[in-house]
Amino acid sequence: MFQTPRGTFDILPDEQKYWQKIKKTFEKVVSSFGFEKIEIPIFEYKLIYEKGVGTDTEIVEKQMYLVKRVGEVNDNPEEQLVLRPEGTAGITRAYIQHGMHTWPQPVKLYYIGPMFRYERPQKGRFREHHQFGVEIFGNTSPYTDAFLIGVVNTFYKELSLSNLTFEVNSLGCPNCRNKMKKALVEYYKPYQNIVCASCQNRILKNPLRLLDCKEEKCQPIIAEAPALIDFLCAECKEHFKTTLEYLEDLEIPYDFNPRLVRGLDYYTKTIFEVIPPDKSSALSGGGRYDNLIELFGGQPTSAIGFAGGIERTISEIRKQGIRIPSLPKPEIFLIHLGDLAVRKSLSLLFELHKVGFKVAIALDKEGLKSQLKAADKAKTPYALILGQKEAREDTIIVRNMLDGSQETVDIKKLSDYLHKRIGGTVKIKKSSS
Ligand code: HAM
Repeated sequence: MFQTPRGTFDILPDEQKYWQKIKKTFEKVVSSFGFEKIEIPIFEYKLIYEKGVGTDTEIVEKQMYLVKRVGEVNDNPEEQLVLRPEGTAGITRAYIQHGMHTWPQPVKLYYIGPMFRYERPQKGRFREHHQFGVEIFGNTSPYTDAFLIGVVNTFYKELSLSNLTFEVNSLGCPNCRNKMKKALVEYYKPYQNIVCASCQNRILKNPLRLLDCKEEKCQPIIAEAPALIDFLCAECKEHFKTTLEYLEDLEIPYDFNPRLVRGLDYYTKTIFEVIPPDKSSALSGGGRYDNLIELFGGQPTSAIGFAGGIERTISEIRKQGIRIPSLPKPEIFLIHLGDLAVRKSLSLLFELHKVGFKVAIALDKEGLKSQLKAADKAKTPYALILGQKEAREDTIIVRNMLDGSQETVDIKKLSDYLHKRIGGTVKIKKSSS
């Protein structure tokens, strides 16, 4: 039997209410703050992630899926395609490609969609996951950092999620970061044969990620490591300080985490993650990436953004016991009996639908019993029964499925009748037999 590939899953009808709630809430919140939607391809050139996310990051080194045409032999690295592991690099590519620097600045974009990373599947970690995110291009001020975090906070509040913590830190500008890296390499020298194999590699390739190691034996070393904030230049320090002051004004519960580094190389200055109360994996993360557009060949333009995982948000909604109402279901079940009724019921179905009713129908069942059973299963509050007699007399039986009571209604008056019982503006055309 065929199965979903490891680390991926189907989203079945019963789950859809969570997905729709999150997507709709996100779109409502961000569009009300002036963000506009962008959709970019699911696959892009591998180079944009190598350049943007960084060749020494786990995502680029180990987690990207190559996309190849069946039988393709061209191995030109410039032409290699991968499934997108994240959204920021692709949207930055789009900003440059479409000359968005000529649009009124800042350009505020949002996106929702699947991302792909090769992971060892476990709780909250999948090979296909879904992100919602925003990117703001063309604004350097800490005001924007606080605005973005404020938007993220509003989104989680709108979902009724509580007790979330915003962990924040600053990675400074490239100058600050070079100093941070040097200090970390120096600090780790005496420990290079003691730390885990990954950290031995990080000392050489990506020293900032040393602070992100989860191995137990590396924890005491991390605890004593130099704090990144001590290496910030005056300008970066001021930027971070002002951002935090704005967050205090907004009463956003942040925790300064001097060890926060994030797993993507493009970040500068403010970075943050939203952590759930049980401190399991981050619900979302983001930060500034003031040099990425220039790195991609565009004019120097600062940027900041964030992305959250839909799967982890659903899991948190469940953990916090937040009730998500079911999606609207059909309110009427249309039952037909006999040839004339079959013909009439089909046009009635579309007329009812046209005026705004949600109508279900048993497509392949014929007898009254089996259609009533289907109506019962569909849990519609009303069933309309169109038999031979009713079809001939231009009437219809309206059955209340809760108490079993039923009434014969003149088809011309069905509109008003249903309107009174179900609501909505309903006008049914006169039957044309
Ligand atoms: P990220 O932290 O790599 O950041 O991913 C964002 C969010 O996606 C995570 O906080 C998590 O909720 C979810 N996520 C990531 N990987 C997985 C996975 N394997 N399974 C389930 N959920 C996952 C970024 O991707 C950046 N592009 C965010 C950003 C936007 N920074 C600036 N702008």
